[in-house]
Amino acid sequence: MLFVTPFLIILLTSDYSKGEIHLHAFKHQRVNCNEKTVLQCNISSPTPLNVVQVFWRKQDEEDFKCDPTSDNNPPGFECNYTEKSLTLTISNPTPANMGAYFCCIKTDSGHGAKHINVSIGECTGELSNQIAGPNQIQCSFNSVYPGAVINWFHYDKDLTSKSTTTSLLNSDGTFNITSVLNIQDDKKKYTCSLWSLEQGRYLNQEIEVPYHADSSPSSRISTQHRLSWTLIFFSLMYFD
Ligand SMILES: *[C@@H]1O[C@H](CO)[C@@H](O)[C@H](O)[C@H]1NC(C)=O
Ligand SMILES: *[C@@H]1O[C@H](CO)[C@@H](O)[C@H](O)[C@H]1NC(C)=O
Ligand SMILES: *[C@@H]1O[C@H](CO)[C@@H](O)[C@H](O)[C@H]1NC(C)=O
Ligand SMILES: *[C@@H]1O[C@H](CO)[C@@H](O)[C@H](O)[C@H]1NC(C)=O
Repeated sequence: MLFVTPFLIILLTSDYSKGEIHLHAFKHQRVNCNEKTVLQCNISSPTPLNVVQVFWRKQDEEDFKCDPTSDNNPPGFECNYTEKSLTLTISNPTPANMGAYFCCIKTDSGHGAKHINVSIGECTGELSNQIAGPNQIQCSFNSVYPGAVINWFHYDKDLTSKSTTTSLLNSDGTFNITSVLNIQDDKKKYTCSLWSLEQGRYLNQEIEVPYHADSSPSSRISTQHRLSWTLIFFSLMYFD
């Protein structure tokens, strides 16, 4: 009996601490790119908890810790704690935010943790296009996820083989994808579109790029316009 008692005490305490804290969370959460998201762990307990510490951790990122009582949390993250739940708000999710997050709770009688595996949907990115040089036209999609290629068309004619595409990885896990099309004949309209190999479909709408061999990029035109209006304005002031 003298043996059994310590053993029983250990057994009871561990059971007791395990039974005390119940954390409930959805194991997987798919979030939309750049759309504010809240991860939540619900706490239930038959008796009031004497909470010592609550925080969020991220798997494989030693430095990641979000603590509701701290002012020094990872940028873009906010965490809150109430008696019923622990939340982690990701203000602007990017592919770099994917991974497993753990909500952790420590009480005077034990501790508990649950993980939420976060995956991210596609980031459609932003298009920019310009004339890159003589007989060249360039099209870029910035902040795209997952990786993709750019296809070129003149109406139904596939011109992709006459183009060169480069892909740069940003620190947020998105890609900047740029393609330069070599133009042999002076046609008026080219279409560049972002094609996802992974999903087998177009991620971003097809956009028509007007090309005129003798014109300058539109940004330069608008600057010139502004300049002439400024000159007219000053001339009027001067002659008044
Ligand atoms: C946590 O609680 C909220 C509201 O009380 C509920 O909407 C949500 O589904 C709960 N989550 C889980 C994993 O049970
Ligand atoms: C978290 O709590 C703080 C202060 O208690 C509050 O200002 C903030 O709006 C809360 N954030 C969320 C996402 O609930
Ligand atoms: C999260 O999900 C990914 C892909 O679904 C999987 O490879 C990974 O092991 C999961 N991590 C955890 C902690 O469940
Ligand atoms: C991707 O494009 C954005 C917007 O033009 C730019 O700020 C960023 O530096 C680019 N990233 C890389 C890796 O070149």
